[in-house]
Amino acid sequence: MTKYHVVLCLVLASALCSFSFYTGGNHIPVVNIVAPVNGSSVRRSSNIDYRINVTDKEDGSTKYEEITQEEVFLKVKYLSSVKQVPAYLQKEKQLAKAFLTMRQSDCFNCHAVKQKLAGPSFSDIAVKYGATAATYERLSKKIMKGSRGAWGDTQMPAHLNIKKEAATAIAKLVIQYGSDANFDLYRGTEGIIKLNKKKGKNPSSVMLLTAYYLDHGIEMKNRKEGSTTIRFFLK
Ligand code: HEC
Repeated sequence: MTKYHVVLCLVLASALCSFSFYTGGNHIPVVNIVAPVNGSSVRRSSNIDYRINVTDKEDGSTKYEEITQEEVFLKVKYLSSVKQVPAYLQKEKQLAKAFLTMRQSDCFNCHAVKQKLAGPSFSDIAVKYGATAATYERLSKKIMKGSRGAWGDTQMPAHLNIKKEAATAIAKLVIQYGSDANFDLYRGTEGIIKLNKKKGKNPSSVMLLTAYYLDHGIEMKNRKEGSTTIRFFLK
């Protein structure tokens, strides 16, 4: 092989490599959970620091604050045994579309799972209505048409771009996350995971973290999501 061939090969190989992550003019973001370390054991009595890095070819990096705090989400799930991990991940898959729709919309500007913001927390909503067909019907209508008076005087805006089927899926997510004491959703690239001290008597108990970043695509079209999941053990 001549020198020329070697160079040509390298060029072709690198073009192929970048092509695999390059879909329709927008690269998929790369999300990393830097802390805690994947597979590590962490003392269960402590608050646990977490840190997430995101880089995206078009949007930039969290390191230089080109990607802002509020665009990065972290799901935290406690499981009493590693055996429960596959079933949990399967259930999460079914909620993925609803979770994506919510992040494409403005829901998390006013709602959190455990904390009241401008709107009620998902926990409070779950306690108030329970997981019934009537709840999903009611909440899906409110999500589409807006709401006022159920929790106070503040108005929740209408979301006319969200259709019935999607709104029902979101209502189910709100109730499921809201009624799960072992689940929380954090926003931001770093913070503290608060551990319920009663949790994790079982020596095989595990924490599962999944971090998400939904990129800006090309002028907010053809947006791509990057995510990563790690687990660590409580000792
Ligand atoms: C500007 C802030 C804001 C945004 C954005 C927002 N909400 Fe709300 N949400 C509220 C407030 C305030 C209430 C309480 C309304 C009331 O008292 O009737 C509420 C109530 C709710 C309820 C309970 C309704 C009921 O009947 O009790 C659900 C479910 C809900 N929001 C889901 C969502 C979803 C899903 C999105 C995104 C598509 C969203 N919200 C976006 C502020 C907001």
